[in-house]
Amino acid sequence: MPVRRTALVIAATLLVVACSGSPEPDAAPASVAEAADTVAANAEAAAAEAAVPAVPAAAVIAPNPELPALLAAADVNKGKVLYLQCRACHSLVPETESGKIGPTLYGVIGRATGSMAGFAYSEAVMKSGITWTAEQIDSWLTRPSEFLPGNKMVFVGIQNPQDRANIIAFIQAESAKPAAP
Ligand code: HEC
Repeated sequence: MPVRRTALVIAATLLVVACSGSPEPDAAPASVAEAADTVAANAEAAAAEAAVPAVPAAAVIAPNPELPALLAAADVNKGKVLYLQCRACHSLVPETESGKIGPTLYGVIGRATGSMAGFAYSEAVMKSGITWTAEQIDSWLTRPSEFLPGNKMVFVGIQNPQDRANIIAFIQAESAKPAAP
C-alpha cells in the first residue's frame, strides 16, 4: 500500500511538473520575438549611423566665386604641364592604368565621387555623396585633406587658383577626346 501511494505521489508530481512546464512553449515565441525586435532595433541603429554623411568638410573649403572667370582664362597647355604632378598617380584615359595608385581622371567631371569601378576608394570619398563638378574639384585640389578628411590622396594641394583652373581645363579637354579604339 505505502509503495503504491509513493508511486502515486511521484506520478502526481511528474504531472504537476509536466503541466507547469507547459507554459514554456508559449513563452518561447515571445522571447524569440523580443530577440528579433532587438536585432531589428540594432540594425536600424547601425543603418542610421551609416547614413550619417561624412561630409561636413565639403563646406570647409567654400567654392571660389572667381572660378568661372579663371576657367574662361585657363591655359590648357599650362594645365598639361601642371598635370604632371597628378600623372604619377592618375591616368587620363578611360581605363585606370595599372601601376597608378589613383583612379583615372578621364571623365571625372560629372562623375559621382568614388565611382570608378575596380578602384578601392577610402570611406571618406565613398561616403561623401559629392558629384565632381569643376567647383568641387577646385576645392578638393586646394587642400584634399581638409576637403574630405580621411581620404587617401596624399597630395598637399595647389594654392594658386589659376593653376587649379588650368589643370581642370586640361582634364576637361582630355576627357572630351573620344576613347582610343
Ligand atoms: C600621390 C598620389 C596622388 C597624386 C599626386 C594625386 N592624386 Fe588624386 N587621388 C589619389 C588617390 C589615391 C585617390 C583616391 C582617394 C580616396 O579614395 O580617398 C585620388 C582621388 C582623386 C579624385 C577623386 C576621383 C574619384 O573618382 O572620385 C580626383 C578628382 C583627383 N584625385 C584629382 C587629382 C588631381 C587633379 C591631381 C593633381 C593636381 C591629383 N589628384 C594628384 C592619388 C593622387
